[in-house]
Amino acid sequence: MSSEASKIERTVVVGAGLMGAGLAVIMARGGCQVRLLDVSDAVLERGLERVRENLYLLVDLGKLPEQGLLPILSRITATTSPSLAAEGAQFVMEAATENLPLKQALFEEWDRLAPPETILATNSTGFSVDDVAEKTWHPERVVGSHFFTPHLVMPLVEVGCGSYTSGQVVETTVALWERCGKQTVVCRKNLKGFLVNRLQAALAREAMSLLQSGAASASDIERATRLGLGLRLPLWGMLEQRDWSGLDVHYHGMASVYPTLENSKVPLPVLAERVARGQTGVKAGKGFFDWTGKDIESVRKRKHRQLLELIATVERLMADEDELVEAH
Ligand SMILES: NC(=O)c1ccc[n+]([C@@H]2O[C@H](COP(=O)([O-])OP(=O)(O)OC[C@H]3O[C@@H](n4cnc5c(N)ncnc54)[C@H](O)[C@@H]3O)[C@@H](O)[C@H]2O)c1
Repeated sequence: MSSEASKIERTVVVGAGLMGAGLAVIMARGGCQVRLLDVSDAVLERGLERVRENLYLLVDLGKLPEQGLLPILSRITATTSPSLAAEGAQFVMEAATENLPLKQALFEEWDRLAPPETILATNSTGFSVDDVAEKTWHPERVVGSHFFTPHLVMPLVEVGCGSYTSGQVVETTVALWERCGKQTVVCRKNLKGFLVNRLQAALAREAMSLLQSGAASASDIERATRLGLGLRLPLWGMLEQRDWSGLDVHYHGMASVYPTLENSKVPLPVLAERVARGQTGVKAGKGFFDWTGKDIESVRKRKHRQLLELIATVERLMADEDELVEAH
């Protein structure tokens, strides 16, 4: 672990919502003192309730012994005062509402409040590191740290660079997340969506295009994604799979397929129309599928458990894996 990361003790999580409450637990589990910051006492109260729910969930899932709960909880405090939270802060993790002017104002404020060596990280999904750091004087200390829900159990964190992020900041951030029990990948360019959301967006756009064109039903697209593509992915990612099937095969086959792939620069009508009529998915009872009459909480819980089983299997399989050596 980088020696700088091992020295990180005092941290701040900005935003005590869905992501912030989980991040507080992840960081406190990694041994950090966490100050959870939000705009009102009422929101913070709900945030701390979420922290406790997260901890009980970990106990429930067998990921945390019950006696481990209180020491973690005792490392998390809450405040509505940014200047109080900033005192001695070494690492600030922003998980506030996904709104660019708000994030830019927050980073401008934290750039002023926090000591110059403090790392400022963003969990933003859709904005790049340069976007959120635009109003800071020290963009070299701003870095992306993108988590995936359910972030308590998902192993990966993407550490994303802005155009000015320093190598030392990236190294310390990677080491901090590893200390918190996460695996990391680094996106070396200032990109919206880092790595995973870009790959996901390309696939989702094609899935929606297939649905829109009537090529297949939503159910068949779902089965094709899970059983045809998804099942192989933990063992062979997008690039290694091509090595096994032969780059020449991909080259010649895809030269014919690529020109026919969806490449729309705006959301497709099949998505836009559903959003316009409030058909936004599970939360609305309807999205691409009909969720009315389903016990959503029990489905969510079952999927959580199944995901944990999958993660355990994938980690076991990956432990046997030969290390990949990159060719140039
Ligand atoms: N929800 C997800 O699945 C997910 C996954 C990865 C990344 N993210 C990103 O994480 C961030 C947070 O998402 P979320 O789902 O937790 O949102 P959320 O709405 O649950 O929580 C956001 C919190 O930020 C607080 N906030 C707003 N302004 C603030 C300010 N000035 N100071 C302090 N707190 C402030 C809000 O009061 C709220 O509690 C977003 O940028 C989102 O894109 C979300």
